[in-house]
Amino acid sequence: MSVDNHRGRENPPSRRRPGARMMSARVAACAGIGAGVLLATAAVAGADVPQPTIFTPVSTPAFIIREIAFFVLGITAAIFVLVGGLGVYSMIRFRRPRSDDGAEPPQVYGSRQIELAWTVVPILIVVVLFFVTARYIWGIEHRAQEADALEVTIVGHQWWWEIRYPKLGIVTANELHLPVSDAVRPMPAYLTLESADVIHSFWIPQLAGKMDVIPNKVNRLWVDPRRTGTFVGQCAEYCGLQHGGMLLLVTVHTADDFARWTTEQQASAPDAPAAAAGRELFSSLACISCHTVRGTPANGVFGPDLTHLMSRSTIAAGVIQNTPKTLRAWVEDPESIKPGALMPAMKLSGEEVDKVTAYLLTLK
Ligand code: CUA
Repeated sequence: MSVDNHRGRENPPSRRRPGARMMSARVAACAGIGAGVLLATAAVAGADVPQPTIFTPVSTPAFIIREIAFFVLGITAAIFVLVGGLGVYSMIRFRRPRSDDGAEPPQVYGSRQIELAWTVVPILIVVVLFFVTARYIWGIEHRAQEADALEVTIVGHQWWWEIRYPKLGIVTANELHLPVSDAVRPMPAYLTLESADVIHSFWIPQLAGKMDVIPNKVNRLWVDPRRTGTFVGQCAEYCGLQHGGMLLLVTVHTADDFARWTTEQQASAPDAPAAAAGRELFSSLACISCHTVRGTPANGVFGPDLTHLMSRSTIAAGVIQNTPKTLRAWVEDPESIKPGALMPAMKLSGEEVDKVTAYLLTLK
Protein backbone atom coordinates (compact mmCIF):
# COMPACT_ATOMS: atom_id res chain seq x y z
CA MET A 1 0.00 0.00 0.00
CA SER A 2 2.76 2.39 0.94
CA VAL A 3 4.51 1.66 -2.33
CA ASP A 4 1.33 2.48 -4.19
CA ASN A 5 0.86 5.74 -2.27
CA HIS A 6 4.42 6.72 -2.91
CA ARG A 7 4.08 6.19 -6.62
CA GLY A 8 0.73 7.97 -6.52
CA ARG A 9 2.44 11.08 -5.25
CA GLU A 10 4.98 10.95 -8.06
CA ASN A 11 2.43 10.26 -10.76
CA PRO A 12 -1.03 11.72 -10.20
CA PRO A 13 -3.68 9.28 -11.54
CA SER A 14 -4.39 11.39 -14.63
CA ARG A 15 -0.78 11.26 -15.79
CA ARG A 16 -0.06 7.72 -14.73
CA ARG A 17 1.43 5.42 -17.31
CA PRO A 18 -0.89 2.54 -18.21
CA GLY A 19 0.23 -0.48 -16.26
CA ALA A 20 1.73 1.63 -13.47
CA ARG A 21 -0.96 0.39 -11.11
CA MET A 22 -0.27 -3.23 -12.04
CA MET A 23 3.47 -2.67 -11.59
CA SER A 24 2.97 -1.09 -8.18
CA ALA A 25 0.67 -3.96 -7.17
CA ARG A 26 3.43 -6.34 -8.19
CA VAL A 27 6.01 -4.35 -6.26
CA ALA A 28 3.70 -4.40 -3.24
CA ALA A 29 3.23 -8.16 -3.59
CA CYS A 30 7.01 -8.69 -3.79
CA ALA A 31 7.50 -6.42 -0.78
CA GLY A 32 4.90 -8.49 1.09
CA ILE A 33 6.68 -11.75 0.29
CA GLY A 34 10.02 -10.15 1.20
CA ALA A 35 8.64 -9.00 4.54
CA GLY A 36 7.31 -12.51 5.20
CA VAL A 37 10.70 -14.05 4.47
CA LEU A 38 12.39 -11.44 6.70
CA LEU A 39 9.98 -12.24 9.53
CA ALA A 40 10.64 -15.96 9.17
CA THR A 41 14.40 -15.32 9.09
CA ALA A 42 14.18 -13.11 12.16
CA ALA A 43 12.26 -15.86 13.95
CA VAL A 44 15.11 -18.27 13.25
CA ALA A 45 17.98 -15.82 13.85
CA GLY A 46 16.73 -14.03 16.96
CA ALA A 47 15.71 -16.99 19.10
CA ASP A 48 16.21 -14.87 22.25
CA VAL A 49 14.11 -11.93 21.10
CA PRO A 50 10.47 -13.02 21.27
CA GLN A 51 8.82 -12.99 17.86
CA PRO A 52 5.20 -13.73 17.11
CA THR A 53 5.61 -16.89 15.03
CA ILE A 54 3.51 -19.97 14.33
CA PHE A 55 6.63 -21.98 13.43
CA THR A 56 7.91 -22.62 16.96
CA PRO A 57 4.80 -23.59 18.93
CA VAL A 58 5.07 -24.28 22.67
CA SER A 59 1.46 -25.17 23.49
CA THR A 60 -0.80 -27.99 22.24
CA PRO A 61 -3.29 -25.88 20.21
CA ALA A 62 -0.35 -24.14 18.49
CA PHE A 63 1.32 -27.50 17.72
CA ILE A 64 -1.95 -28.69 16.19
CA ILE A 65 -2.23 -25.52 14.10
CA ARG A 66 1.31 -25.93 12.77
CA GLU A 67 0.63 -29.58 11.98
CA ILE A 68 -2.50 -28.80 10.00
CA ALA A 69 -0.82 -25.84 8.28
CA PHE A 70 1.96 -28.13 7.01
CA PHE A 71 -0.59 -30.78 6.02
CA VAL A 72 -2.53 -28.24 3.92
CA LEU A 73 0.72 -26.82 2.56
CA GLY A 74 1.79 -30.35 1.54
CA ILE A 75 -1.43 -31.01 -0.37
CA THR A 76 -1.46 -27.61 -2.07
CA ALA A 77 2.26 -27.90 -2.90
CA ALA A 78 1.58 -31.25 -4.60
CA ILE A 79 -1.25 -29.64 -6.61
CA PHE A 80 1.02 -26.72 -7.51
CA VAL A 81 3.83 -29.00 -8.68
CA LEU A 82 1.43 -31.17 -10.70
CA VAL A 83 -0.41 -28.28 -12.39
CA GLY A 84 2.72 -26.15 -12.85
CA GLY A 85 4.69 -29.16 -14.10
CA LEU A 86 2.00 -30.08 -16.63
CA GLY A 87 1.86 -26.45 -17.72
CA VAL A 88 5.61 -26.22 -18.28
CA TYR A 89 5.69 -29.63 -19.96
CA SER A 90 2.89 -28.60 -22.34
CA MET A 91 4.58 -25.31 -23.17
CA ILE A 92 7.79 -27.10 -24.14
CA ARG A 93 6.34 -30.26 -25.67
CA PHE A 94 3.67 -28.50 -27.73
CA ARG A 95 5.45 -25.27 -28.63
CA ARG A 96 4.89 -24.02 -32.14
CA PRO A 97 7.07 -25.97 -34.60
CA ARG A 98 8.81 -24.28 -37.53
CA SER A 99 6.63 -26.27 -39.93
CA ASP A 100 3.41 -24.89 -38.38
CA ASP A 101 1.03 -23.73 -41.11
CA GLY A 102 -0.95 -21.43 -38.83
CA ALA A 103 -4.16 -23.44 -39.23
CA GLU A 104 -6.36 -23.96 -36.15
CA PRO A 105 -5.72 -27.39 -34.50
CA PRO A 106 -8.59 -29.89 -34.14
CA GLN A 107 -10.92 -28.88 -31.26
CA VAL A 108 -12.02 -31.35 -28.57
CA TYR A 109 -15.39 -31.07 -26.79
CA GLY A 110 -16.95 -33.02 -23.95
CA SER A 111 -14.52 -35.62 -22.65
CA ARG A 112 -16.40 -37.36 -19.88
CA GLN A 113 -13.24 -38.85 -18.33
CA ILE A 114 -11.42 -35.51 -18.10
CA GLU A 115 -14.45 -33.67 -16.72
CA LEU A 116 -15.08 -36.36 -14.13
CA ALA A 117 -11.42 -36.28 -13.10
CA TRP A 118 -11.26 -32.52 -12.55
CA THR A 119 -14.56 -32.51 -10.69
CA VAL A 120 -14.19 -35.57 -8.48
CA VAL A 121 -10.53 -35.16 -7.49
CA PRO A 122 -10.88 -31.55 -6.17
CA ILE A 123 -14.07 -32.53 -4.31
CA LEU A 124 -12.21 -35.38 -2.61
CA ILE A 125 -9.36 -33.03 -1.68
CA VAL A 126 -11.77 -30.47 -0.18
CA VAL A 127 -13.62 -33.21 1.72
CA VAL A 128 -10.35 -34.52 3.19
CA LEU A 129 -9.26 -30.99 4.21
CA PHE A 130 -12.69 -30.31 5.72
CA PHE A 131 -12.79 -33.45 7.87
CA VAL A 132 -9.19 -33.22 8.99
CA THR A 133 -9.70 -29.55 10.03
CA ALA A 134 -13.01 -30.33 11.74
CA ARG A 135 -11.39 -33.17 13.71
CA TYR A 136 -8.59 -30.89 14.92
CA ILE A 137 -10.98 -28.06 15.86
CA TRP A 138 -13.17 -30.53 17.76
CA GLY A 139 -10.10 -31.86 19.56
CA ILE A 140 -9.07 -28.35 20.67
CA GLU A 141 -12.52 -27.08 21.61
CA HIS A 142 -13.79 -30.09 23.52
CA ARG A 143 -11.00 -30.59 25.97
CA ALA A 144 -12.48 -31.30 29.42
CA GLN A 145 -11.42 -28.75 32.02
CA GLU A 146 -9.87 -30.06 35.23
CA ALA A 147 -11.59 -28.86 38.42
CA ASP A 148 -8.43 -27.23 39.79
CA ALA A 149 -7.31 -25.70 36.48
CA LEU A 150 -5.94 -22.18 36.37
CA GLU A 151 -8.57 -19.74 35.14
CA VAL A 152 -7.82 -16.36 33.64
CA THR A 153 -10.32 -13.79 32.43
CA ILE A 154 -9.02 -11.48 29.74
CA VAL A 155 -10.98 -8.36 28.87
CA GLY A 156 -10.16 -6.45 25.70
CA HIS A 157 -10.32 -2.67 26.01
CA GLN A 158 -9.47 0.14 23.60
CA TRP A 159 -6.41 -0.33 23.68
CA TRP A 160 -5.15 -2.62 26.38
CA TRP A 161 -5.81 -6.00 27.96
CA GLU A 162 -7.26 -6.41 31.42
CA ILE A 163 -6.08 -9.69 32.96
CA ARG A 164 -7.89 -11.21 35.94
CA TYR A 165 -7.23 -14.39 37.89
CA PRO A 166 -10.61 -14.81 39.64
CA LYS A 167 -9.55 -17.78 41.80
CA LEU A 168 -6.33 -16.05 42.87
CA GLY A 169 -7.70 -12.53 43.41
CA ILE A 170 -5.21 -10.95 41.03
CA VAL A 171 -5.85 -8.16 38.54
CA THR A 172 -3.15 -6.95 36.18
CA ALA A 173 -2.83 -5.69 32.62
CA ASN A 174 -1.17 -6.49 29.31
CA GLU A 175 1.29 -9.05 30.67
CA LEU A 176 -0.07 -12.55 31.14
CA HIS A 177 1.78 -14.84 33.55
CA LEU A 178 1.30 -18.60 33.35
CA PRO A 179 2.89 -21.66 34.92
CA VAL A 180 4.66 -24.16 32.68
CA SER A 181 2.60 -27.22 31.86
CA ASP A 182 4.81 -30.24 31.32
CA ALA A 183 4.12 -33.96 31.20
CA VAL A 184 5.02 -34.39 34.87
CA ARG A 185 2.77 -31.57 36.05
CA PRO A 186 0.15 -30.61 33.47
CA MET A 187 -1.13 -27.10 34.26
CA PRO A 188 -3.25 -25.91 31.33
CA ALA A 189 -4.74 -22.45 31.69
CA TYR A 190 -8.31 -21.75 30.65
CA LEU A 191 -8.83 -18.28 29.28
CA THR A 192 -12.22 -16.57 29.27
CA LEU A 193 -12.30 -13.74 26.75
CA GLU A 194 -14.58 -10.72 27.07
CA SER A 195 -14.68 -7.24 25.60
CA ALA A 196 -15.46 -3.93 27.28
CA ASP A 197 -16.11 -2.07 24.05
CA VAL A 198 -15.52 -3.29 20.48
CA ILE A 199 -14.40 -6.54 18.86
CA HIS A 200 -10.76 -7.41 19.49
CA SER A 201 -8.92 -10.65 18.82
CA PHE A 202 -6.63 -12.39 21.27
CA TRP A 203 -3.65 -13.95 19.54
CA ILE A 204 -0.43 -15.39 20.87
CA PRO A 205 0.77 -17.42 17.88
CA GLN A 206 3.09 -19.70 19.86
CA LEU A 207 0.34 -20.66 22.31
CA ALA A 208 -2.92 -20.95 20.37
CA GLY A 209 -4.93 -19.73 17.41
CA LYS A 210 -6.71 -16.40 17.20
CA MET A 211 -9.89 -16.03 19.19
CA ASP A 212 -12.27 -13.10 18.75
CA VAL A 213 -13.04 -11.02 21.82
CA ILE A 214 -16.64 -9.90 21.36
CA PRO A 215 -18.81 -7.53 23.46
CA ASN A 216 -21.64 -9.36 25.26
CA LYS A 217 -20.22 -12.74 24.32
CA VAL A 218 -17.86 -14.98 26.22
CA ASN A 219 -15.29 -16.96 24.24
CA ARG A 220 -12.94 -19.53 25.66
CA LEU A 221 -9.47 -20.74 24.88
CA TRP A 222 -6.98 -22.99 26.62
CA VAL A 223 -3.20 -23.10 26.48
CA ASP A 224 -0.63 -25.41 28.03
CA PRO A 225 2.80 -23.86 27.50
CA ARG A 226 5.33 -26.69 27.67
CA ARG A 227 8.40 -24.57 28.33
CA THR A 228 9.24 -21.43 30.23
CA GLY A 229 10.02 -18.22 28.38
CA THR A 230 8.52 -15.05 27.01
CA PHE A 231 6.05 -15.12 24.16
CA VAL A 232 4.45 -12.20 22.40
CA GLY A 233 1.08 -11.60 20.88
CA GLN A 234 -1.03 -8.86 19.44
CA CYS A 235 -4.66 -7.87 19.01
CA ALA A 236 -5.58 -9.38 15.66
CA GLU A 237 -8.84 -7.64 14.84
CA TYR A 238 -8.93 -4.00 13.81
CA CYS A 239 -10.38 -2.17 16.80
CA GLY A 240 -9.62 1.50 16.25
CA LEU A 241 -6.74 3.91 16.09
CA GLN A 242 -4.41 2.03 18.43
CA HIS A 243 -5.20 -1.50 17.22
CA GLY A 244 -1.50 -1.89 16.45
CA GLY A 245 -0.64 -0.63 19.95
CA MET A 246 -2.42 -3.46 21.72
CA LEU A 247 0.36 -5.92 22.41
CA LEU A 248 0.50 -8.87 24.75
CA LEU A 249 3.43 -10.29 26.62
CA VAL A 250 3.21 -13.78 28.08
CA THR A 251 5.70 -14.99 30.65
CA VAL A 252 5.71 -18.70 31.36
CA HIS A 253 7.23 -19.53 34.75
CA THR A 254 8.30 -22.66 36.52
CA ALA A 255 5.72 -23.75 39.12
CA ASP A 256 7.79 -22.19 41.94
CA ASP A 257 8.31 -18.89 40.13
CA PHE A 258 4.62 -18.71 39.30
CA ALA A 259 3.74 -19.26 42.97
CA ARG A 260 6.15 -16.45 43.90
CA TRP A 261 4.64 -14.11 41.30
CA THR A 262 1.15 -14.97 42.58
CA THR A 263 2.07 -14.10 46.17
CA GLU A 264 3.61 -10.78 45.10
CA GLN A 265 0.57 -9.84 43.04
CA GLN A 266 -1.89 -10.75 45.80
CA ALA A 267 -0.29 -8.27 48.19
CA SER A 268 -1.78 -4.78 48.54
CA ALA A 269 0.13 -1.80 47.23
CA PRO A 270 3.24 -1.07 49.30
CA ASP A 271 2.96 2.06 51.42
CA ALA A 272 6.23 3.91 50.89
CA PRO A 273 6.43 6.92 53.29
CA ALA A 274 8.83 8.73 50.94
CA ALA A 275 6.14 8.89 48.27
CA ALA A 276 3.37 10.11 50.60
CA ALA A 277 3.11 13.49 48.86
CA GLY A 278 2.77 11.84 45.47
CA ARG A 279 0.18 9.39 46.80
CA GLU A 280 -1.89 12.24 48.23
CA LEU A 281 -1.72 14.16 44.98
CA PHE A 282 -2.61 11.03 42.97
CA SER A 283 -5.60 10.39 45.28
CA SER A 284 -6.83 13.97 44.79
CA LEU A 285 -6.81 13.69 41.00
CA ALA A 286 -9.27 12.08 38.60
CA CYS A 287 -6.71 9.25 38.19
CA ILE A 288 -8.52 7.29 40.91
CA SER A 289 -11.83 7.17 39.06
CA CYS A 290 -10.19 5.13 36.27
CA HIS A 291 -7.41 3.23 38.03
CA THR A 292 -7.32 0.91 41.02
CA VAL A 293 -4.49 0.77 43.50
CA ARG A 294 -5.60 -1.88 45.98
CA GLY A 295 -5.49 -0.67 49.59
CA THR A 296 -6.04 3.00 48.60
CA PRO A 297 -9.11 5.07 47.63
CA ALA A 298 -8.24 4.50 43.97
CA ASN A 299 -10.81 1.98 42.75
CA GLY A 300 -11.62 2.87 39.14
CA VAL A 301 -12.01 0.12 36.57
CA PHE A 302 -11.79 1.93 33.22
CA GLY A 303 -8.01 1.82 33.08
CA PRO A 304 -5.38 -0.74 34.07
CA ASP A 305 -5.01 -1.76 37.73
CA LEU A 306 -1.86 -0.04 38.99
CA THR A 307 -1.39 -1.93 42.27
CA HIS A 308 1.79 -3.58 40.99
CA LEU A 309 2.48 -1.33 38.03
CA MET A 310 6.26 -1.56 38.41
CA SER A 311 6.18 -5.35 38.16
CA ARG A 312 5.30 -4.89 34.50
CA SER A 313 8.05 -4.45 31.95
CA THR A 314 6.03 -2.30 29.57
CA ILE A 315 3.36 0.40 29.71
CA ALA A 316 0.68 1.53 27.25
CA ALA A 317 -0.04 -2.15 26.32
CA GLY A 318 3.48 -2.96 25.24
CA VAL A 319 4.05 0.26 23.27
CA ILE A 320 7.01 1.38 25.44
CA GLN A 321 9.30 -0.06 28.06
CA ASN A 322 8.35 0.78 31.64
CA THR A 323 11.16 3.03 32.88
CA PRO A 324 11.05 6.09 35.19
CA LYS A 325 11.59 8.32 32.15
CA THR A 326 8.90 6.79 29.93
CA LEU A 327 6.48 6.55 32.85
CA ARG A 328 6.91 10.26 33.54
CA ALA A 329 6.36 11.09 29.88
CA TRP A 330 3.24 8.91 29.89
CA VAL A 331 1.76 10.61 32.98
CA GLU A 332 2.53 14.02 31.51
CA ASP A 333 0.96 13.40 28.09
CA PRO A 334 -0.20 9.91 27.02
CA GLU A 335 -1.20 11.28 23.62
CA SER A 336 2.43 12.01 22.73
CA ILE A 337 3.31 8.32 23.20
CA LYS A 338 0.13 6.62 22.04
CA PRO A 339 -2.04 8.92 19.91
CA GLY A 340 -5.72 8.24 20.56
CA ALA A 341 -5.11 6.67 23.99
CA LEU A 342 -8.19 7.25 26.14
CA MET A 343 -6.19 8.42 29.16
CA PRO A 344 -6.24 12.23 29.17
CA ALA A 345 -3.29 14.44 30.06
CA MET A 346 -4.05 15.76 33.54
CA LYS A 347 -2.40 19.13 32.78
CA LEU A 348 -0.14 18.87 35.80
CA SER A 349 2.81 21.14 36.50
CA GLY A 350 6.28 19.67 36.09
CA GLU A 351 6.62 19.33 39.86
CA GLU A 352 3.26 17.55 40.15
CA VAL A 353 4.19 15.12 37.37
CA ASP A 354 7.41 14.36 39.28
CA LYS A 355 5.44 13.65 42.47
CA VAL A 356 2.87 11.38 40.83
CA THR A 357 5.63 9.52 38.95
CA ALA A 358 7.64 9.11 42.17
CA TYR A 359 4.56 7.55 43.78
CA LEU A 360 3.85 5.24 40.82
CA LEU A 361 7.47 4.06 40.93
CA THR A 362 6.85 2.67 44.43
CA LEU A 363 4.06 0.37 43.17
CA LYS A 364 6.30 -2.64 42.83
CU1 CUA B 1 -7.92 -4.54 19.91
CU2 CUA B 1 -7.30 -4.59 17.60
